[in-house]
Amino acid sequence: MLDPTIRYTAAQPSDAPAIADLLEPYAEMGVVLPRPAGEIGEHIGNFLVAREVGEVLGAVALRDFGDGLHEVRSLVVDSGCVGRGVGSQLIKAAVDLAIARAARSVFTLTLRPGLFQRAGFELVDMERFPQKVWSDCAQCRKRHCCDEVALLLSLEP
Ligand SMILES: CC(C)(COP(=O)(O)OP(=O)(O)OC[C@H]1O[C@@H](n2cnc3c(N)ncnc32)[C@H](O)[C@@H]1OP(=O)(O)O)[C@@H](O)C(=O)NCCC(=O)NCCS
Repeated sequence: MLDPTIRYTAAQPSDAPAIADLLEPYAEMGVVLPRPAGEIGEHIGNFLVAREVGEVLGAVALRDFGDGLHEVRSLVVDSGCVGRGVGSQLIKAAVDLAIARAARSVFTLTLRPGLFQRAGFELVDMERFPQKVWSDCAQCRKRHCCDEVALLLSLEP
């Protein structure tokens, strides 16, 4: 059941520190890539947030890899409100943004495939996304022992 008090909206520049705070503990655990507030601010137009009474409860970003391929990344929900469907709604909001940006497909690399499979994503071979591997994965401390899986959602009819 959706919580009507939580709104899913485009992030504002002033949200960058709150998004960075949400990501930081999970970046330290190696669950998401680290993203400092300055970098988030530079790309704030790609972020969506879950907001309740003005407070940022969760965030997600969309990255355009060109040629109609977008990535859902930096998905995070405040540890105090996991299991309420916020993560799933953020994935849905990111897919809606991808559609609005005329994406042809959306991929993600994740440790939580079930969340994305429920949103219609399908497991695929990570080698389908060399652009991602060349950029982010090359800097990841788990690049030689990656435990993530790749999923793809085709938006083409
Ligand atoms: C992964 C993460 C984003 C999930 O956020 P969330 O808000 O708990 O996600 P949801 O509530 O939509 O789903 C979580 C679980 O609750 C269940 N759930 C979904 N909607 C629900 C609802 N309305 N009520 C109760 N439970 C629900 C789902 O079955 C899901 O279980 P599963 O993923 O084990 O299959 C969050 O735990 C997080 O920030 N983790 C750390 C960072 C991270 O792992 N990011 C993802 C990297 S891609």
